[in-house]
Amino acid sequence: MATIDPFVGTTCVRSSVDLPVSLSREAAVPLTAQLAGWLRRAMLDGTLPPGERLPSSRALAAQLKVSRTVVTEAYQQLYAEGWLEGRHGSGTFVADMETAGMERVVTPPRETPSDPGPPEPAAAAFIDLTAGRPWVRDYDRAAWKRAWRRAGEPPPVAEPDPYGLPRLRELLADHLRRARGMAVGPENILVTRGTGNGLDLCALALLGAGARAGVEDPGYHVARTVFAARGAEIVPCPVDADGVIVDGLPRDLRVLYTTPAHQYPLGGRLPIPRRERLLSWARSTGATIVEDDYDAEFRYDVAPLPALYGLDPSRVVLLGTLSKTLSPDVGVGWLVGTPELVGRIAGLRRAVADRTSGPVQEAVATLLERGDLDRHLRRMRLEYARRRAVVVELLGPVCRLRGDTAGLHVLAELPAAVVPVVVERARERGVLLDATGRHHHGRERLHGLVIGYGSASLADVRRGCRVLAAIVREAVAAAP
Ligand SMILES: Cc1ncc(COP(=O)(O)O)c(C=O)c1O
Repeated sequence: MATIDPFVGTTCVRSSVDLPVSLSREAAVPLTAQLAGWLRRAMLDGTLPPGERLPSSRALAAQLKVSRTVVTEAYQQLYAEGWLEGRHGSGTFVADMETAGMERVVTPPRETPSDPGPPEPAAAAFIDLTAGRPWVRDYDRAAWKRAWRRAGEPPPVAEPDPYGLPRLRELLADHLRRARGMAVGPENILVTRGTGNGLDLCALALLGAGARAGVEDPGYHVARTVFAARGAEIVPCPVDADGVIVDGLPRDLRVLYTTPAHQYPLGGRLPIPRRERLLSWARSTGATIVEDDYDAEFRYDVAPLPALYGLDPSRVVLLGTLSKTLSPDVGVGWLVGTPELVGRIAGLRRAVADRTSGPVQEAVATLLERGDLDRHLRRMRLEYARRRAVVVELLGPVCRLRGDTAGLHVLAELPAAVVPVVVERARERGVLLDATGRHHHGRERLHGLVIGYGSASLADVRRGCRVLAAIVREAVAAAP
C-alpha cells in the first residue's frame, strides 16, 4: 500500500531557517529522539515560530548526515503531538497554536548532563505540568494598576493592625459569604500573607514543643515543615481517594491539617458523611482542624460542598489564599476562626512582630470592592475548565483520572512500577511532571502522576498531554 509522506517536499521546500542542530552519535538516546527534542525546544523558545517552514526531510537528512528515516520519524512524532502541520504539496510547517504557549519557558529544576548535543531539553524549554502554580498572564492590567494607585493614597502607619485592615476584613467576609456560602463577619477574619503564614500562626497558637500535629499523607509538604519548625511532632494521617481517612485517627492530636475541598495531591473531595465524622472526632478529642481551602474556588460540573468551617466553626480554622485565584506574588490570604481564637492569634502575631503589608491589603481591597477579583475569577474558571477538559480528553482513555472535578490538578493513577518510567521519559521529551511519591511521608497507597494544568497555556497542556498519553500507553503495555 502506498503511503503518503507529508514531510517530503515535492516542490521547492528550501526552508527560510537554517537549523543549527547538532546530534550526538555517542549518546544513548536514538538520533530520532535527539532531533525531535531539539525541534521541540526550538518551537518552544521561539527559534522556530508558528508558520515557519521546516526543511524537507531529504534536505535536513543531508545536512545532518543521517538517514532520511531519522528525520521523517522525528517529523512524524512531532506531527502526531500537534507541533507540526503538513500543507499538501508545500512541506512541513510549525503548527499555528496559541502563541501564549510559546512564551512559557522555564528552567528545569534538576541538573542535566553536560553531554554535547544531549537529547534532553537541557537548560531550555519545558512544558511544566507540575502542580501548584496558577496562570498569571491573564489579568486586567487597568484594574491592577488602579488598585496599586489607590494603595499609594493612604499614608504609611506606625503600627500595623495585626488583624489586617478593617476594610479588607469586611470585604473578605462578604467574599466568603458569596463564594463559599460561609456565614462570617470581619470579627472572624485575620488577613495573612497566605497559607504558609496562616499555618505558622496556627502552629504558634495551637501547637507547642512536642504537641502532636496530624498532617494528611500524602499531603502538602509546607504544612509538615511549618508545624515541625514550631516544635510539633508530625503524625502522618492516611488519605484515600476521597480524602483523609477518619477511622483510626489518633485521639491525642492537637491539630489536624486537611484539604477537604480538593485533597492535595490526590484530588479527593471529602464526602459530607465523612466531614460529619471528622467533626465529631474533633469534638470528642478536642482537636482543632486546620482546613486548607487553597483552590476551592475552582470546581467543574459538581455542586459545591460546605466548608468544614461552615459545618462547625467551633472546631475549625479555615485558611484561604489569593495564591491560586490571583498570584502567590500578591502575598495575601485569610484565616477564619471564632472571634476568640482570631483575637488570640492577633495577640501572638503582635508578639512575634508578624504582619501583612498595609499597602498590599489596600490594593487587594480595591480589587474586591470594584468587583475586579470576581471578574478575574469568572474568567479563570472558564480558562481552567478548558484546560481540564483537554487533560480529561487526552489522558482519560489511557489511565484512571482522579480529582478532576475541582482545583488545578488531577491525579493520573498508574501502577507503581510505571510511574518513574513515565516521569523520566516525559522529561526527556520536554514535559515536567510530579509523581505521588514526592508527597508521601509514610506508605504509598495510590500511585500515579500529579498533573497540574494551572501554569501551562491551553496549547501547552494539549501538547504535553499528547506526549504523555503516548508515553503512558507504551509504558503500560511494556510493564510486566
Ligand atoms: C495545598 C496548598 N495549600 C496552599 C497553597 C498556597 O500557599 P500560599 O498561600 O502560602 O502561597 C498551595 C500552593 O501551592 C498548596 O498546594
